[in-house]
Amino acid sequence: MRVAVFGYGQWGRNLVRVFHEMGVLVALCDDRPEALAEAQKRFHGLRLTTDAASLLSDPEVDAVVIATPAETHFALAKAALEAAKDVFVEKPLALRAAEAETLGKLAKARKRILMVGHLLRYHPAVVRLKEMCLAGDLGRLEYAYSNRLNLGRVRREENALWSFAPHDVSVLLHLFEAMPVQVSAVGGAYLQPNIPDVSVSNLLFDRGARAHIFVSWLHPFKEQKLVVVGEKMMAVFDDLNPQAKLMLFEKNFEMVNGNFMARRPEGTPVQIEPVEPLRRECEHFIDCLRTRRAPLTDAQEGQRVLRVLEACQRSLTLNGEPVALPGAREETVHA
Ligand SMILES: NC(=O)c1ccc[n+]([C@@H]2O[C@H](COP(=O)([O-])OP(=O)(O)OC[C@H]3O[C@@H](n4cnc5c(N)ncnc54)[C@H](O)[C@@H]3O)[C@@H](O)[C@H]2O)c1
Repeated sequence: MRVAVFGYGQWGRNLVRVFHEMGVLVALCDDRPEALAEAQKRFHGLRLTTDAASLLSDPEVDAVVIATPAETHFALAKAALEAAKDVFVEKPLALRAAEAETLGKLAKARKRILMVGHLLRYHPAVVRLKEMCLAGDLGRLEYAYSNRLNLGRVRREENALWSFAPHDVSVLLHLFEAMPVQVSAVGGAYLQPNIPDVSVSNLLFDRGARAHIFVSWLHPFKEQKLVVVGEKMMAVFDDLNPQAKLMLFEKNFEMVNGNFMARRPEGTPVQIEPVEPLRRECEHFIDCLRTRRAPLTDAQEGQRVLRVLEACQRSLTLNGEPVALPGAREETVHA
């Protein structure tokens, strides 16, 4: 497999490192010559270019990894698929669900692999959490929330919802195995006009299950925490806690004199595989290229995430008015 990465920015350099470690990286394209000069110091034997078209027409490149800003994803991914390359696109797959649909159809028609970088789906803690859900350990999921908070990186094209929440939406749809039937979202723009730095999105699933996603790049400290409350047990995935990324809690209530009395549970740490999520994600992409199997986070999955984000965005602009997702109740989201 011969992979070319597009975009050697803050995130792209991680992808470059991992694909290089895996021995499949052959080329790098960035429209900033200084980015290429920096890459040249670290990696030897890479083809470096500012000319995207020349890489797309190169028969020595099998697959393209797109780690450029979100607003360029659709055009670059479309051009790569049209050039018969397999494609990995960083999140968000595109800025509109309709664009994701176009890319999905194109990939299908050209028999190309199209994967979106919803990194958390490859995180060993999320993989383990899903296994526990499937084994029935938590019981039916009732409520979940995800906080993705930090100071910076402030983006100028997309808001905090689009920049951060694709990860959370992807994980929540995976855990609940459903699309929300209705969403509502509110947010605030403080640093730039009309680009919310902070947003809270509420997702309502069929049968009353709910989730909310709180994202902000205007927050004094970093937090990446997912809390899942099931009928039987509760789980916490704290990505910034190296000692116990995944904890399981009993849900003990007793009725005493007609009142709910909660016995505060001791959390039990859950063992997770010691593997870098990005490495697992990149390996999955290469595996899909070899086996020609659809990625876990394929175009359809990317499109579902964008439909939820679009609905949240609509609600955000309507100052929190609920927005229904047509057809969501009947839609199957496979584990
Ligand atoms: N999976 C994750 O956890 C994660 C984390 C951060 C960022 N990202 C995603 O990675 C992508 C890049 O984000 P970033 O923070 O690295 O941005 P960035 O602005 O730091 O880097 C983007 C790079 O792409 C280059 N570029 C722009 N347009 C180009 C084009 N048409 N052709 C070639 N190069 C081009 C720029 O020169 C720059 O070097 C975004 O989609 C972002 O959402 C994912």
